[in-house]
Amino acid sequence: MEIIIQPTPAAATSVAARLLAGLIRKKPAAVLGLATGSTPLLLYRELIALQLNWRKLTTFNLDEYVGLDPAHPASYHSFMEENLFRHVNIAKKNVHIPDGMTRDVPKFCARYEKKIRAVGGVDLQVLGIGTVGHIGFNEPTSSLASRTRIKTLTAQTRRDNAKFFGQEEAVPYHVITMGIGTIMDARHCLLLAFGKKKARALAAALEGPISAMNPASVLQWHPKVTVCVDEEAASELSLRDYYRWAYDHKPGWQKI
Ligand code: PGA
Repeated sequence: MEIIIQPTPAAATSVAARLLAGLIRKKPAAVLGLATGSTPLLLYRELIALQLNWRKLTTFNLDEYVGLDPAHPASYHSFMEENLFRHVNIAKKNVHIPDGMTRDVPKFCARYEKKIRAVGGVDLQVLGIGTVGHIGFNEPTSSLASRTRIKTLTAQTRRDNAKFFGQEEAVPYHVITMGIGTIMDARHCLLLAFGKKKARALAAALEGPISAMNPASVLQWHPKVTVCVDEEAASELSLRDYYRWAYDHKPGWQKI
């Protein structure tokens, strides 16, 4: 796991954007796993500004709310369209976001997994971390082997996401999310975290025991993870000086 601490969210995002842009240039038909929420907003803005060629890329989003119309402004369909897809030349047929309106959730989820496998798996998965330690919407106690399925949000996550709905009561209780096993199948995971409110969950994920109580901690078991964080999110990492040292002294050939 490589932990890259930068002074600001913008600086940490630039490292992440370079990583993604490098992959897209090297592998124009790459498969990207994408995230929503406040965290990747800057990343998408930077990627749009780079004017990369998205024509052959395939994307799979982590999650969506159950029962929320895709046209609803807080749906992740709307989020992706607004913040990324309408600004790049991606082919609509290559975009995959869980269908929160499906009438058969288990069948939809099995098909989502099959589609990921059919395109050869995810090359790079973008992840945020929730204040509860979730990745995707895999809330605490999610099976570390889980696949795409329905989950019930914790009260904390509903409070955290109320900002997108205007009020907490409007946040759905149920979501469809890629599982932790699904995320772990990605060849490379890119975890982003910004701000003081993520510091505790991030420290538990990176330096605590691997535990379903902090689902992001499973990434310690993944062979290739890049973590891009700002100083505030890194503030509770006990080895933060070491991570800075390691990044500053990386061999030239390893630099992002
Ligand atoms: P946020 O959420 O980016 O809105 O902070 C992150 C997450 O819940 O994964």
